[in-house]
Amino acid sequence: MRFLITAGPTREPIDPVRFLSNRSSGKMGYAIAEAAIESRHEVVLISGPVAVARPHGAAVIPVSTSEEMFEAVQAQVRNCDLLVMCAAVADYKPVAVFTKKLKKRDAKLSLELIPTRDILSSLPKTRKYFVVGFAAETESIETNARKKLLKKNCDIIVANDARIGMESDENEVEIYFRGGEKKGIPRASKKIIARELVKIFEKYFGKRLTKKTR
Ligand code: CTP
Repeated sequence: MRFLITAGPTREPIDPVRFLSNRSSGKMGYAIAEAAIESRHEVVLISGPVAVARPHGAAVIPVSTSEEMFEAVQAQVRNCDLLVMCAAVADYKPVAVFTKKLKKRDAKLSLELIPTRDILSSLPKTRKYFVVGFAAETESIETNARKKLLKKNCDIIVANDARIGMESDENEVEIYFRGGEKKGIPRASKKIIARELVKIFEKYFGKRLTKKTR
């Protein structure tokens, strides 16, 4: 299969020296890329700024902002069999970017934000590739993950408790399938979780792929 994987955070600039971002390390997405390569799949990795070593054998497309990630996914998605949206894309960005460094003053400062474009929601409803979304939650994981699965029209949602997965080398995930099934992978290193996920993707999508691309 041809995997298109997004990983890491995005950075939304405020001025030439500051940005809004999040604690995503990119480790989960990079581990999935490595596991997919190990299983002899082709991998294109669209990566936000991370400090993780580039997986051998993957074509890496570096991006910084949510808009760059959006454009990169749009450009690549038609060539994949499976999109794995593991990236922690910023939900908001500053309305305007200051061209000069903001100077410190003795007064409150408010930053006006607007929503970024949602990459998953922008994908066509009818498509030849499969889509795996991720859900980072801190409460009501199952309810929120199932809502995201439908709202973002994914085939699978992989949910995790953000307090366990973020920045860590370990994770613990619950997988929700479009047909209503649910599967859990107990706490383990991201490497092991990634291998399990790739096996699940192969099993779930492998058979259907032949039908879909026919
Ligand atoms: N996502 C996306 N485009 C965005 C934001 C998120 O495609 N602008 C994707 C993420 O890559 C992930 C899924 O949507 O696969 C869910 O992301 P998450 O941050 O859990 O949810 P949000 O949509 O941001 O909703 P909320 O912050 O309310 O939980």
